[in-house]
Amino acid sequence: MSRKLFVTTALPYANGPFHIGHIMEYIQADTWVRFQRLQGHEVHFVCADDAHGAPIMIAAEKAGLTPQAFVADIAAGRKPTLEGFHIAFDNWHSTDGPENHELARSIYLALRKNELIESRTVEQFYDPEKGMFLPDRFIKGECPNCGAPDQYGDNCESCGAVYTPTDLKNPRSALTGATPVLRSSEHFFFRLSDPRCVEFLEEWTQDGRLQPEVANKVREWFKRDEQGKVSLGDWDISRDAPYFGIEIPDAPGKYFYVWLDAPVGYLASLKNWFGKIGIDYDAYLADPSLEQIHFIGKDIVTFHTLFWPAMLKFSGRKVPDRIYVHGHLTVSGAKMSKSCGTGISPLRYLELGLDAEWLRYYICAKLNGRVEDLDFNPDDFVARVNADLVGKYINIASRAAGFLSRRFGGRLSADVGVEGRVLLDGLRAQADTIKGLYEEREFGKALREVMLLTDRVNEFVDRIKPWELAKQAGMDAALHDACTVCIEAFRVLTIYLKPVLPALAARVEAFLQVPALVWADSARAMGHHGIGEYRHLMQRVDPKRLEALFEPPADAPPAQEEETPPGGEALAAEIGIADFAKVDLRIARIVAAERVEGSSKLLCLTLDAGEGRLRQVFGGIASAYAPEQLAGKLTVLVANLAPRQMKFGVSEGMVLAASHADKKAHPGLYVLEPWPGAVPGLRVR
Ligand code: 2FM
Ligand code: ZN
Repeated sequence: MSRKLFVTTALPYANGPFHIGHIMEYIQADTWVRFQRLQGHEVHFVCADDAHGAPIMIAAEKAGLTPQAFVADIAAGRKPTLEGFHIAFDNWHSTDGPENHELARSIYLALRKNELIESRTVEQFYDPEKGMFLPDRFIKGECPNCGAPDQYGDNCESCGAVYTPTDLKNPRSALTGATPVLRSSEHFFFRLSDPRCVEFLEEWTQDGRLQPEVANKVREWFKRDEQGKVSLGDWDISRDAPYFGIEIPDAPGKYFYVWLDAPVGYLASLKNWFGKIGIDYDAYLADPSLEQIHFIGKDIVTFHTLFWPAMLKFSGRKVPDRIYVHGHLTVSGAKMSKSCGTGISPLRYLELGLDAEWLRYYICAKLNGRVEDLDFNPDDFVARVNADLVGKYINIASRAAGFLSRRFGGRLSADVGVEGRVLLDGLRAQADTIKGLYEEREFGKALREVMLLTDRVNEFVDRIKPWELAKQAGMDAALHDACTVCIEAFRVLTIYLKPVLPALAARVEAFLQVPALVWADSARAMGHHGIGEYRHLMQRVDPKRLEALFEPPADAPPAQEEETPPGGEALAAEIGIADFAKVDLRIARIVAAERVEGSSKLLCLTLDAGEGRLRQVFGGIASAYAPEQLAGKLTVLVANLAPRQMKFGVSEGMVLAASHADKKAHPGLYVLEPWPGAVPGLRVR
């Protein structure tokens, strides 16, 4: 029977490009989804940017953008990476989309109607200079336990102590350096301590839908005290303005905490997708046979096994059927770090021309259905791809295809002989075992099974020795049969690998001249027909090319502080003249310069670059220049920079200025001015 599956991955924060941990999760979920589709099941697979929250609001402000423009910039850069790794989400949306605003509010109103929302006054640190309540991560001070300086407001990275910001000694705002003051404010709480919630969650988390290790961990939250009471804490779901988020109904100036509306984004993305393809969202979710499945990392289990199911349940909605939790990715045994160069950038992986399916294969070969960390080890990567994938599997096709095209016009034989039939039957007989392993997300075991089958086929080839048959007179039929067995075996193995290697499978389908393969095709023989010319299906990994992936990125700070680089930062990666020529620099006259209301950093410049029109450009130079110092001067404009929507208007380029990397220690900022004689419009090269 065909299953109906609604599958998501966690929504990434819209504050930076994907890191390799995101891609690992997407590869896991995408492989599972592709496997289900090959079975003929109906899957809707969606994701979105997690757009809200104080950190994104602050990052946007630093970039001189509205939060909306900031997250739009991030979203615009997602596609090449997703496509590059063959991650086939049906839809990519944003938690700031209208569907999410509407759904989050309606869920909240239903919870309130159910008497599960309560308002309380809480005391929190407030930055009087910035005029906002500070999230824990934006308060720094000395650890109350070990005295380590410069620790965040929630835990100490030096001794590991966990505390609240008010425990910090000498607290200060990480935004302005001001000493925060305690202020009270009304907050809204989701009353998880309500017996209805406790009863539901205890049942929901322990009824077998979670992985055993997740269910065990969650069980600790339901420990009873001497009076038999469970103490699930209520959840603070509101934040005060200024906040980038969804305003709470009937509470002006109060916003949903980002984690309230983030998972609602799963539903919002689905709804948005259904709007595009014309499926009735309410009817779909009302179908009792629908399975709702979320793939997530182990760090966000609490949100997905307590808050999210309770929000859904008590707003009268369908609850998730499965939460598939995976571990984290380490690199050569170490936790990833951008600065020490062990972090693998997915985009850089693609830019280096490394095959995305090597990574898909390697990650899947190490994944299982448990919550275990997965280590990326470069030597292991090279060995598994070269020895297993290319050496064992691809090799089968390359060993047979040449004979078939040279000696038999590319046609397969009608029969394959007894030994061949036994081999192929043995391969087909493994379909259910491999299917069961994919279903359980035991991808490593599934691929091991497939590799054992490739061993069997290669042993067959070594025994039959087609290259010797080719030299012997009268052995044409035997050679033809042996090569046909190889190609048929290769086709069956390709079906087993297709969830992991979709692009390679498409190349194999073209080579074999067969329609898109589905799982059931493994049980059917391909039949007596012609195949195409064999072309190399997959390269081996060149370890040297992989090494480039581990070279520190150009923007990494120097590993040692012994020598201070010029201007406080290392030179950017070398570029060719062609790259430089892409940047069109022009002399421009500053016709007018004005302060920007609401911004202490920006000046609005009106520029004449000799184009017969004026441009408006915002520059972060207000700290260094009064507007009247600039009017009438010449400067250098980046003239072909795409216009950017900023909070205060559109900026049509950028003026060049010099500054030190450490702006606190060296606050100077110097706008570039050409030598006398230059006129607007001249190109700078
Ligand atoms: O931890 C994170 O990266 C969150 N942005 C995940 C959100 S998942 C879902 F709830 F939206
Ligand atoms: Zn400490």
